[in-house]
Amino acid sequence: MRAAELFRSRFGGEPDGVWLAPGRANLMGEHTDYNDGYVLPFALGQGVSAAAARRAGPGSPGSPGSPGSRRLTLCSRQEPAAPVQVALDQLAPGQVTGWAAYPAGVAWALEAAGHPVPGACIAIDSDLPAGAGLSSSAALECATALALTELALTELALTELALTEKAAAVPRRELAAIARRAENEFVGVPTGIMDQSASLLCRSGHALLLDCLSLETSQVPFDPAAAGASLLLINTRAKHDLADGEYGERRAECEQAARLLGIPSLRYLTNPADLDRLADPVLRRRARHVITDDQRVLDVVTLLSSPPADAYREIGRLLTQSHVSLRDDFEISWPEADRAVEAALAAGAFGARMIGGGFGGSVLALVPATAGVPVRAAITEAFGRSGWRRPEFLDAAPSDSARRLVPAP
Ligand code: GLA
Repeated sequence: MRAAELFRSRFGGEPDGVWLAPGRANLMGEHTDYNDGYVLPFALGQGVSAAAARRAGPGSPGSPGSPGSRRLTLCSRQEPAAPVQVALDQLAPGQVTGWAAYPAGVAWALEAAGHPVPGACIAIDSDLPAGAGLSSSAALECATALALTELALTELALTELALTEKAAAVPRRELAAIARRAENEFVGVPTGIMDQSASLLCRSGHALLLDCLSLETSQVPFDPAAAGASLLLINTRAKHDLADGEYGERRAECEQAARLLGIPSLRYLTNPADLDRLADPVLRRRARHVITDDQRVLDVVTLLSSPPADAYREIGRLLTQSHVSLRDDFEISWPEADRAVEAALAAGAFGARMIGGGFGGSVLALVPATAGVPVRAAITEAFGRSGWRRPEFLDAAPSDSARRLVPAP
């Protein structure tokens, strides 16, 4: 509960609550979300927590109705600089930069959607490695979104206002869209809807099938441990930064391919033969990745829904196919990821692939439970031989979505 400790030391007093939003790993479907395709992420046990209290109202920092009460004060254990002050009445995209743009953007997007945002003090802590492609930004957005919407409810209850429809808890799908809007329009990174949906909608023991066109979801039972397999995340420690521009370039290429094909998005390209209508070989490869990864999502769902005896071996094969497609067709892999995949396969993994936006971050390997130790050793040794920093390993298990930790619900 380090967020609560940080809250006490920075702000004095107790937070009104502590909320946790998990990071995610994506089992299948990369760069498919903004093409209206399918994704299959699962939530991690690790995430971002936010200890928060309303500014106005009994027992909260700041005096009721004081001029400073329409303000967010944000601090983070991972950002040792002084707390950041954000005036809620003057919020506009581009005004807040750095890590605080994510929570400030959520406040902005909530208000833009007509949801009340109370002035608040928020202390953030994270046990997700930043820049590891495990969705720490979305986790920060979702923890803030839950904290602010629940604090708003408490505030209304305290002032004995009748709970209007607007004040009722914001549905999670809407919260995901609000958090994504914060990232797209306030922070300025053109991501899809996968990460925020994973953080807010996943269930323990399941992967989340999300159709990014209809926004329909279903929970797909996913329990590798019960089948004698394990999920290993390898943080290659090559930092990825979605704001770097390459992500936006890929997105623009996909949109161009769809335009040339005369369809609203690549989701509508159902016949692989139509790829030949793209004269530009680069656009052809980009589109081929998207439609083949979409199909792999559906194939993995079929394997998980009525598993044959060798389901995990088959899913592993699809993971490796996806990596090859991301490396050769979408061209967003990086040397450490390729080496980690190669070493994992040679040491007995069922399959492995890079996950997330690309150009750095993590690899997900599906491993027979008995091969965990040799796979880690093989990857560490391969990195050592190349003179790279030791990778970090994280055992992943499909976990629950964002929730309030304190007071216990
Ligand atoms: C990042 C984005 C997601 C998604 C993935 C790639 O994580 O935030 O929306 O596009 O990259 O699949």
